[in-house]
Amino acid sequence: MNQPRLLLNQPADARAYAEHLERVGSTKHAPALANPQAFVLGVFEGTSLIAHLAVLLQPLIHRADLPIALLELDHESFTDAYPPGLVEGFVQTFDVEEPYRRRGVGSRLQLAALEECRNRGAHQLRSWSSLDRPANYALKIALGFAAHPGHSYLPAHDRWVRGVYFVKPV
Ligand SMILES: CC(C)(COP(=O)(O)OP(=O)(O)OC[C@H]1O[C@@H](n2cnc3c(N)ncnc32)[C@H](O)[C@@H]1OP(=O)(O)O)[C@@H](O)C(=O)NCCC(=O)NCCS
Repeated sequence: MNQPRLLLNQPADARAYAEHLERVGSTKHAPALANPQAFVLGVFEGTSLIAHLAVLLQPLIHRADLPIALLELDHESFTDAYPPGLVEGFVQTFDVEEPYRRRGVGSRLQLAALEECRNRGAHQLRSWSSLDRPANYALKIALGFAAHPGHSYLPAHDRWVRGVYFVKPV
């Protein structure tokens, strides 16, 4: 099994990425390799991609797609409250195919993502996952991420879902 590397926006990587996303059921949420705001790290076994971690680089501001009318807020934007220019990596999708789990692949991908965020000038790496992800929770705690219980709004379902945010400065 190879070490994590950045996937390139070229046919061989795009094909391996698409096949892997199909196998793990993450086709809906994973960013395209052509997205200039994102990077995707992958681990190969031969020519097969067996694990990936996709990160979106974004300004550290409140989400703009929330149903703001439901919140007890007078303002629609708190952008000015943040230090200007602060950028974070936010994990979009993270999967290790089942036969390859518990071999340190997921941890290596997270460590590579922290380094990539640092190289790109981001302040932190952050993610959110719902309560049904005990393996991911254990991995994040083992790597020293801070854990913050919190809901996330899922626009596709128009629902707030309970989970945990994990964050680590890079
Ligand atoms: C979460 C996931 C990516 C972890 O990948 P992995 O390669 O198996 O993780 P690692 O081997 O690096 O595990 C590192 C540590 O995390 C913890 N851990 C990982 N899986 C665990 C499990 N099933 N139960 C308890 N602890 C677990 C352990 O402390 C482990 O160290 P150890 O094996 O030395 O005990 C993988 O389980 C997965 O793809 N799950 C389905 C998708 C998912 O939940 N994605 C993340 C949220 S969207």
